[in-house]
Amino acid sequence: MRERIEVVILAAGLGTRMKSKRAKVLHRVAGRPLIDYVVDVAHAVSGSAPVVVVGHQRQAVQQHLGDRARYAVQEPQLGTGHAVQQAAAVLGDLQGKSVLILSGDVPLIREATLRRLADEHRRAGNALTLLTMQPRDPAQYGRIVRDGSGAVQKIVEAKDASAEERQIGEVNAGIYLVEGPPLSQNLRKLSADNAQREYYLTDLIVLLRGAGQRVGAVAVDDPGEVAGVNSRAELAGVEEQIQRRVVDRLMSEGVTFRNPSTVVIDSTVTIGSDTVVYPFVTLEGKTHIGESCVIEPGVHLLDVSVGNDVHLKSGTVAEDAIIDDEATIGPYAHLRPGTKLGRRVKVGNFVETKKAVLGEGSKASHLTYLGDADVGADVNIGAGTITCNYDGLHKHQTTIEDGAFIGSDTQLVAPVRVGRGAYVGAGSTITKDVPPDALALSRVPQKVIEGWAKRKKKKD
Ligand code: UD1
Ligand code: CA
Repeated sequence: MRERIEVVILAAGLGTRMKSKRAKVLHRVAGRPLIDYVVDVAHAVSGSAPVVVVGHQRQAVQQHLGDRARYAVQEPQLGTGHAVQQAAAVLGDLQGKSVLILSGDVPLIREATLRRLADEHRRAGNALTLLTMQPRDPAQYGRIVRDGSGAVQKIVEAKDASAEERQIGEVNAGIYLVEGPPLSQNLRKLSADNAQREYYLTDLIVLLRGAGQRVGAVAVDDPGEVAGVNSRAELAGVEEQIQRRVVDRLMSEGVTFRNPSTVVIDSTVTIGSDTVVYPFVTLEGKTHIGESCVIEPGVHLLDVSVGNDVHLKSGTVAEDAIIDDEATIGPYAHLRPGTKLGRRVKVGNFVETKKAVLGEGSKASHLTYLGDADVGADVNIGAGTITCNYDGLHKHQTTIEDGAFIGSDTQLVAPVRVGRGAYVGAGSTITKDVPPDALALSRVPQKVIEGWAKRKKKKD
């Protein structure tokens, strides 16, 4: 199939019903623009880059796809037939080739279904084979009109259909495989003599049959697979289906989901085997999770790399962070960009980190802010420790060397360094470097006045 197939992806339409400033095919499902799914399947079935027909917001679409596609500009948009005419001009000589026509807004189409389409096309010796479906509501889809022998005779657009034709349940999914030469010869014969004053690609069927060519159809069992996205509701429907595919794939790779219908996982995310994902988890972007991890409810990760045997407790939120093996994070930890946590690190509840590196075995168990901090291995950071990294103008670095102990409720006023193995007493404000193995204290000495409270109560 690969060598002699060219793919055309129609994506010039406006998508009015999305009510959006963004081109329809750039709306995202499972973290990727709709068009990416179609371009991926095009690459899977063809050896050459697909020709994407662009029009509305073509700069944005071209910028997004870059050299993953070739482009045909359709301006103005005079219908699907007109769109394919522009693509044919880019493809040039189609001798010995077939053309697969896909829609940029039909992202769920599977490679296996396209192979079925191609097999039937070859087997029957067709000039054109299309995919049809029987949706619950045939709505605005083109109706498939079959002749007495059951062959596809023509497609009638809903807007052009008679009341009787509108009763037909079998409709056009908008995906076609066409032989190159009859395509080139008949494309230019299309006219816009119809209800929408558009050049209908679907009129090819009557033209081809008139020229004595064979036209066939393959019915898709699951209409969801060829569902188009024309509105936000349909976008949500497609997202739901892609989510199910993502979770099914991850389960087949050995991941446990305690309630798969509640998680939101981008198609770009990977998870190792024996990891358990609890309900209401959101994993986005280039997030990669290792093996045997536990991801508790309410965890939200964006572009986070997680090692093996990591425990992310409820409500952990992280972005652009790296978490090494056997770490325990949360509940309710906030790891901001530039966070790097070494093996067996423990970050507990209400701890926020930003551009912070914590070495192997270090702990910040409660109520702490570590920003612009370089923390060595086996450091203990007491509850309520704050790095004062911002002076109102600039950010400054805090360095805490291996084995240091930071007492609770300490402020480290950066730039400052606490040396290897040093202690900082609880409640200190550290403004000067602490040498290795020293003790630094900055508290007011405690005063005790015996019997003071009793005397006060008597007086009151
Ligand atoms: C078309 C089919 C219809 C089929 C339906 C399936 C025609 C005449 N009708 O309907 O039988 O049931 O698809 O979804 O082909 N596009 C362009 N340039 C244009 C017009 C459309 O690139 O001038 C692109 C759109 O961006 C979209 C695709 O073609 O990706 C389909 O367009 P759309 O308007 O949704 O389809 P219809 O013409 O309504
Ligand atoms: Ca249309």
